[in-house]
Amino acid sequence: MDLDQGKIDGLNNGKIPIYEPGLDQLVIRNHQAGRLHFTTDTAAAVKQSDVVFIAVGTPERRGDGAADLSYVFDAAKTVARNMDGFTVVVTKSTVPVGTGARVAEIIRQENPDADFAMASNPEFLREGSAIEDFMRPDRVVIGCENEKARAILKELYRPLYLIETPILFTNIPTAELTKYAANAFLATKIMFINQIANLCEAVGADVHHVSKGMGLDRRIGGKFLHPGPGYGGSCFPKDTAALASTAREHGESISIVENVIEANRWQKQRMTTKVRTALDNQVRGVTIGVLGLTFKPNTDDMRDSAALTILPALIADGATVRAYDPEGMEEAKEKMPDLVYCQDAYEACQGVDVVIILTEWNQFRNLDLKRIQAGMKARPDGRYLFCDFRNIYEPPTMVAAGFHYVGVGR
Ligand code: UDX
Repeated sequence: MDLDQGKIDGLNNGKIPIYEPGLDQLVIRNHQAGRLHFTTDTAAAVKQSDVVFIAVGTPERRGDGAADLSYVFDAAKTVARNMDGFTVVVTKSTVPVGTGARVAEIIRQENPDADFAMASNPEFLREGSAIEDFMRPDRVVIGCENEKARAILKELYRPLYLIETPILFTNIPTAELTKYAANAFLATKIMFINQIANLCEAVGADVHHVSKGMGLDRRIGGKFLHPGPGYGGSCFPKDTAALASTAREHGESISIVENVIEANRWQKQRMTTKVRTALDNQVRGVTIGVLGLTFKPNTDDMRDSAALTILPALIADGATVRAYDPEGMEEAKEKMPDLVYCQDAYEACQGVDVVIILTEWNQFRNLDLKRIQAGMKARPDGRYLFCDFRNIYEPPTMVAAGFHYVGVGR
């Protein structure tokens, strides 16, 4: 159920409002089979349900970085007014510790006779691999202390029990905090390797080998140790800010996370500096070809993408930017109207002084480099400038092919 009639009409006609690989087939199949319905009729949707998931947005509030919970509370009121019989109300949205208790209070105020139990069931899926992550999660965390509700949720997650997914039952604040702690830790891991990458550049080390050497230690693990232009997306930026804000509210400080937030801001700016330096600080009049705009591949999501920091800064320096992204250009056009949007990678690199890779879409991993070069303007030394901020090419290969290659930490 959604309040947005346009979204619901679209879904009823098989139109998915976001790009997520495989989601269209999954939705259409279940919709056609009558297992999945879309409606704006909240009353009917809530009345018929044993479990209601609140999965609305919790954007970052301007000013203090706390999560804006107004959509969650509005949804809670609607649920309270319409529930019929015992109902489990689950917060699926990422909500700060204490929200479950506040939602329960709102429901009781709105409907003193409501027969319900609260649960917190944070979602750990990633954009771009959402279906696989949801169907085969590393674990499921459920914060719920009501026996009857636990039994219902256990039944709901039975398919995951069958594939032996660990399902962790906790109290509500624990589940709420686990989500933030996990995301903040992953963001920390990324920023740690980004800062090591920066040091690698200074001392002549290769961050890929450092990352591999670290990651093979099973206590560390190799995932989320890939350097880049800084993290973006709908989760890490706002969840780290919200966690730091929760800590401050409680008179605590998670200074590591505060530092990660600052380091991420700095990492994005550092990429701009790398481009400027590679252009001998003469950006005015230069044309830049950009491959990839979204915060990661396989999504059309531009939220907090590094492109939004790097490209406006280079345009302010006097550069012209030509860009191509397989899925993100519609959203990018709204946020950065002064880019020249192109039909493919080769068109974006036509007549440019430098190519920058910002998102590691698979189609950029195997470019026809001769063709890219043929369209480019050479630097004064006869080489072609290539900034690969996702490290998808090997430096020696690129140098041998006539490029001046700028990666991250290599
Ligand atoms: C993240 C969490 O992974 C997921 O568990 C949570 O539910 C939502 O937030 P998501 O934002 O979809 O998922 O993408 P993720 O793959 O985690 O990437 C986030 C950002 O970190 C991207 O900008 C990505 O490019 C960057 N990243 C990730 C790196 O720079 N290096 C890495 O090694 C991994």
